[in-house]
Amino acid sequence: MPLLDLKSPFLVAHRGFSAQFPENTLASFTAAQEAGAVMLEMDLALSQDRQIVILHDETLERTTNGQGPVKGLAWKELGKLDAGSWFGPQFKGVRLPNLEEVLDQFGGQILLNLEIKTEAFEPNHPQGIVSQLAQTLAKHGLASEVLVSSFCAPALFELSQIPGAPNLALLSESPLDQAQLDWLKRIQAWAWNPDATLVTKAEVNQVKALGYKVITYTANRPKEQARLFKMGIDGIFTDGPVFR
Ligand code: G3P
Ligand code: MG
Repeated sequence: MPLLDLKSPFLVAHRGFSAQFPENTLASFTAAQEAGAVMLEMDLALSQDRQIVILHDETLERTTNGQGPVKGLAWKELGKLDAGSWFGPQFKGVRLPNLEEVLDQFGGQILLNLEIKTEAFEPNHPQGIVSQLAQTLAKHGLASEVLVSSFCAPALFELSQIPGAPNLALLSESPLDQAQLDWLKRIQAWAWNPDATLVTKAEVNQVKALGYKVITYTANRPKEQARLFKMGIDGIFTDGPVFR
């Protein structure tokens, strides 16, 4: 289903079904899909040999048995790491995925929200994460089923300049201001993605009146989700377990 056919309100599986499975792994994404998610969110980093790897942190310690910065290892090494045991012994051997594997397994099955981590961005780099992402999406023919987001507006701007770029969402961790409004316009954003603990009804009204969707992160309790949807928010990132 193309992103543009997505009906509000909707829930996005934050790092997959991360409440019950090790985040950002194929196991977590599969579980979210089986639970009825319409969109999977995942974080993108770059390996030493410039493969796009699915990992939230800049370093490997928290969610794998590796050490040091993700950009310090080639995919050959990263692909062997255990990204499951930290979450529970039953997930021992669950590996760190790369973007190609995710697209092979989920492309065309479910919408994907790919978040470019700020630390992975190198401005105007011919083999940087923006260029690698654009090439990979083009190869898989998946741009219309993908939403690319980032806290790093310059990364989104660079992507927006590449022909055939996917729809974009600007993540925000501060109240809406003129700088964010300017970036939304400059990147021709599809959505503005604010922090659920900060977003206000006035901001939602303002941003929606300009034609952007609002997707907020992260709310897990049904009562909190109901409060946010009542404000007119289109989508909410959640760790699960309910995605419908
Ligand atoms: O995209 C929503 C959310 O994932 C942004 O924050 O730190 O969980 O990547 P983080
Ligand atoms: Mg994220």
